[in-house]
Amino acid sequence: MFDLIPLIKTIGYLGIFGIVFAESGLFIGFFLPGDSLIFTAGFLASQGFLNIWNLVFLIFIGAVIGDSFGYAFGKKVGPMIFKREDSFLFHKDNLNKAKVFYEKYGGKAIILARFMPGIRTFAPILAGVGRMHYSKFLSFNIIGGALWGIGLPLLGYYLGNVVPNIDRYIVLIVLFIIFISVSPMIWHILKDKNARGRILNALRAKTKYAGKLIVFNWKMNPETLESAIDMAKKGDHKNIVIVPPFVFIEEIGKIIKKAKLGAQDLFYKDAGGGSFTGEISASELINLGVKYVIVGHSERRAMGESNEIISSKIKTALDNGLIPILCVGESLEQRNAGKTNEIIQFQLSTALSNLKLITSNFQLIIAYEPIWAIGTGNNCSPEDALKMIEFIKNTLLTFNFKLPTKILYGGSVNPENINDFLKYKEIDGVLVGGASLNPELFF
Ligand code: 13P
Repeated sequence: MFDLIPLIKTIGYLGIFGIVFAESGLFIGFFLPGDSLIFTAGFLASQGFLNIWNLVFLIFIGAVIGDSFGYAFGKKVGPMIFKREDSFLFHKDNLNKAKVFYEKYGGKAIILARFMPGIRTFAPILAGVGRMHYSKFLSFNIIGGALWGIGLPLLGYYLGNVVPNIDRYIVLIVLFIIFISVSPMIWHILKDKNARGRILNALRAKTKYAGKLIVFNWKMNPETLESAIDMAKKGDHKNIVIVPPFVFIEEIGKIIKKAKLGAQDLFYKDAGGGSFTGEISASELINLGVKYVIVGHSERRAMGESNEIISSKIKTALDNGLIPILCVGESLEQRNAGKTNEIIQFQLSTALSNLKLITSNFQLIIAYEPIWAIGTGNNCSPEDALKMIEFIKNTLLTFNFKLPTKILYGGSVNPENINDFLKYKEIDGVLVGGASLNPELFF
């Protein structure tokens, strides 16, 4: 950015014209220097490198026809890309919003956008998408183009003439111009509480769970598809696995864009269809876009699921390309009797007994879920969870277990305590039950 002087000397009038045109109306031009470029060009004109009148004429023309090109592009392409009902960015709703916005604020937006890096490129395209009246667009385009494309170079030219040695301060001035250009945008965003919240949320969601896996096990909730869809939208973030009841899997799979899909169970045999009333096979899950499957949850063990069945389910999941989330955990009596390690070791060794461990390149997830912590609000202390997770890692080593394995903690995790667990690098993530029914509270 600060090598603008040599850049301008190299590219000359035509290059300046090209950049102004591209950043005014071509999608790809949004990152190009704008205000700083034309101000510096004005300054260079004051030093005799360019003719100021040729310069402002070319910048003005480049800006106006660039904007018009963007408008034409938006008008032509807009209806085509916004036709799809349910894609993330290109939603019909957005087309209508653009229309309403440009009817109301179009003129002001076109002028102000000139002075805002990035926005400058997208405003005319969106005006076309929103079908702003062309003659209105053109008049504001010309006014904005003149204020910006003539005003800024003339300012550079004027300062270059009246302030001695201004080239020493050019970097500072350019920084100041950038600051002034983006400040209306920043002010606008900071003023609006919702926008502020959205930005904070986006930043938090990006950094908060990076490198961790957060699994939302909805168990037998909610009761309606409508609520399930609403919850899925709220939980649709990176690093999240949403595990709805089977009946909602297909619809949730269509809704989520960033989160991954999980299932709460699978049939223990690789049956490929067959007479197994009430069961759901691994291939059926795969065909619905499911990536993860919970196996051996204590609530299913309590209904009679044996370690042998769990072992077959793990194998079937892996054979079909699903990533199993194997749950292990001790009851309160077992814990009080000092048998926690023994129980966990037994559950692991039986569940994993079916695998050809060393050669396979599958992924496995283990969730340490002490039964006494599930649904009680009485979570295991993060320090104890850490100890158990280290114990599980060491146990796997004694099995000569070389699969890439992540180990999660589960049991009364909620938005308040989640980071107490995730702060440990050894804890790869969490498995959340009850609190995941209000997913928005995690972001
Ligand atoms: P809670 O988060 O409701 O304790 O449930 C944990 C669990 O069982 C997740 O599978």
